[in-house]
Amino acid sequence: MIKKGIILAGGKGTRMSPLTKAVNKQLLPIYDKPLIFYPLSILMLSKIKDILIIVNKGQLEQYKKILPNGDNLGIKISYLEQSKPRGLPDAFVIGEKFIGKENVAMILGDNFFYGQNLSKLLLDNTKLSKGARVVLHKVLKPELFGIAKINNQKKITKIKEKPKKFFSDLAITGLYFFDNKVVNFAKKLKPSKRGEVEIVDLLNFYKSKNQLSADLIGRGGAWLDTGSMDDFYKTSSFVSAIENRQGLKIACLEEIAFNNKWIKKKHLKQSIKFYGNCDYSKYLTKLL
Ligand code: TTP
Repeated sequence: MIKKGIILAGGKGTRMSPLTKAVNKQLLPIYDKPLIFYPLSILMLSKIKDILIIVNKGQLEQYKKILPNGDNLGIKISYLEQSKPRGLPDAFVIGEKFIGKENVAMILGDNFFYGQNLSKLLLDNTKLSKGARVVLHKVLKPELFGIAKINNQKKITKIKEKPKKFFSDLAITGLYFFDNKVVNFAKKLKPSKRGEVEIVDLLNFYKSKNQLSADLIGRGGAWLDTGSMDDFYKTSSFVSAIENRQGLKIACLEEIAFNNKWIKKKHLKQSIKFYGNCDYSKYLTKLL
């Protein structure tokens, strides 16, 4: 069982500037809550309670204001800083001590997932004991994403970053499950031409050992990238449409913790006090 998870929540947020000049992208709102709530909710739905959030140097205090230590959610949140965006696999070098001898899940701080069978998919993937697993989702424009081809055993046979020539339309999302070897593999990586260590290179280590498999989010599920201004607002609209139609919130962290029986009513009351008089608190009140 994977019990540890990392959220990579640094980055320059270049495409979202000037919004990201003073505030980190993951603290900006997706409709009614900060973006970071969404990837955190995914780890919590995976029943992962020990979570490392990697943030940019100098931005720790901002994060701690909204997510201090996880006590209110019955989980443990710790933080480490990344001095500069050296690339996604850097998470496993920074997180080496946190990971220890265990396997680990990693989610990018700006990735949004939603869908009916998502919880089952997540729980299945935390059972990973050896190798690496990625989560794929069909996209219209494969040339914009890291793309994977799979065989009928869901083993990955080919991966390529932003392929110019079509070979598959399955994009590699920002949610990964790794065995403990990931730390050593990540340490061996050399930066690419763009000066970053690349997740595709890390995945290729596993692929060369025939240990890279995939799970698929079907057409009933959504994976939205919130990297650009346009995607950011589209994701907000999506959340608003679903929440206002159903009256159920996406990524309400306290609700997930409460349903997982990680917190009691008294914690919900503390959270209501912490957030103050707002719709999010009113929603929590309904849970009581
Ligand atoms: P990117 O989309 O590659 O980068 P970004 O979010 O900084 O945006 P832009 O391309 O507009 O500059 O990053 C994906 C996610 O991973 C995002 O949540 C930031 C995070 N990240 C880090 O925390 N550290 C890193 O070294 C990198 C490359 C990304």
